[in-house]
Amino acid sequence: MLIRHLSLTNFRLYARLEAALPAGPLILVGANAQGKTSLLEALYYLAAGQSHHATSDRQLINFLALRTETLPFAKIVAEASVEANLAPKRLEVRLILDPSVAGEGRLRKEVLVNGVKRRVGDLAGQVNVVLFLPHDLTIVEGSPSDRRRMLDVALGQVDPAYAFALSEYGKVLAQRNALLKQLQERGGPDGQLEFWDEKLCEHGARILAARAAALADLETLASAIHRDLTRGTDGLRLAYHPAYDPVAAPERQLGLALDVPVHRAGVPLAEVQAGLRERLQATRAEEIARGATLCGPHRDEIRFLANGVDLGTYGSRGQARTAVLALKLAEVDWMRTKTGEWPILLLDEVLAELDLSRRRELLARLGAAQQCLLTTTDLALFPPDFVQSAAVWRVEAGRIEERS
Ligand SMILES: Nc1ncnc2c1ncn2[C@@H]1O[C@H](COP(=O)(O)OP(=O)(O)O)[C@@H](O)[C@H]1O
Ligand SMILES: [Mg+2]
Repeated sequence: MLIRHLSLTNFRLYARLEAALPAGPLILVGANAQGKTSLLEALYYLAAGQSHHATSDRQLINFLALRTETLPFAKIVAEASVEANLAPKRLEVRLILDPSVAGEGRLRKEVLVNGVKRRVGDLAGQVNVVLFLPHDLTIVEGSPSDRRRMLDVALGQVDPAYAFALSEYGKVLAQRNALLKQLQERGGPDGQLEFWDEKLCEHGARILAARAAALADLETLASAIHRDLTRGTDGLRLAYHPAYDPVAAPERQLGLALDVPVHRAGVPLAEVQAGLRERLQATRAEEIARGATLCGPHRDEIRFLANGVDLGTYGSRGQARTAVLALKLAEVDWMRTKTGEWPILLLDEVLAELDLSRRRELLARLGAAQQCLLTTTDLALFPPDFVQSAAVWRVEAGRIEERS
């Protein structure tokens, strides 16, 4: 898969950008704060339906447009080609701020595919990317929600039904929590919860099953890559700890060694759904007392283990870095097997973090990608033969120039 053309309007510091993107490796070189990351962010947005680092879509709209226009908007338009289907798709995302709404205004998001307005959720699965970041270490060292997001973004791209279940689950969770809060504060009959329980379990079971299957696949791939990278015998374990676990009873789970693989992917969906439902019923009084949903995929955890050691707690920086690299490379392979296509690779200043041999290893593994965008402040970090084979663009103050 590749993006042949990218057009940005008032996206971050790009007031206007029209760029025909080449296939193969493309190096974006430039000093800090010139717009390298923002360009990757635009492509990532098309795949993930969200930015990887903005806390609100409003931040994506150009500052000047926000100050001077009556209806400020940011627009990303891309022409994407999928090998299997040669006619390119035209994808468009518009983020429009209506400042007339009290407070901070209201942001509206519009998605168009081939010029036709579609639901925002229909963006899922249109473009596939894998993003490599220097602070990917948060996947190992950060909070459980960082790890869930990593998995959700990857899964949502290859499985639009997952993206839908996740989005529905989020809505149901918010409604259910509001109701629990109300019951906590004002009391009253809790019969209305039944409806939300049903929905929560329906979408929750799908999420759990998909996560279990994806993590099992990712683990197999990541483990082999990890063994390669460390030239060792030890693989990498991705241990899924769902908040509601259809396999291990809570008592048993406590005694379960961390690195014992558990096969959850094979549990029938109806069984997961019924089990989660039972759990919700058992904890209803506690949930009302706390005014929140205490169990479900929004509380899932994933742990990384190498040599039986939990990297989040006991790993060294170097070990965590290697684990993350193995995981990201596994994500690429996993997407390839799931979609039959190379995802578009986005590497934001990752080379500076790696030693020379890791750099070569990474570039060798990714060199065959259909399209790979790499940013750097320093071209010298790349081996000369790689630079020779790549297109090199200079990025300066939101403008792009091809470098001869
Ligand atoms: N909404 C926005 N409007 C205009 N400029 C922005 C906006 N958001 C960020 N910027 C500016 O963009 C620059 C950062 O661009 P970035 O793509 O991160 O650069 P690089 O990756 O080359 O270091 C900063 O100077 C920042 O102030
Ligand atoms: Mg940057």
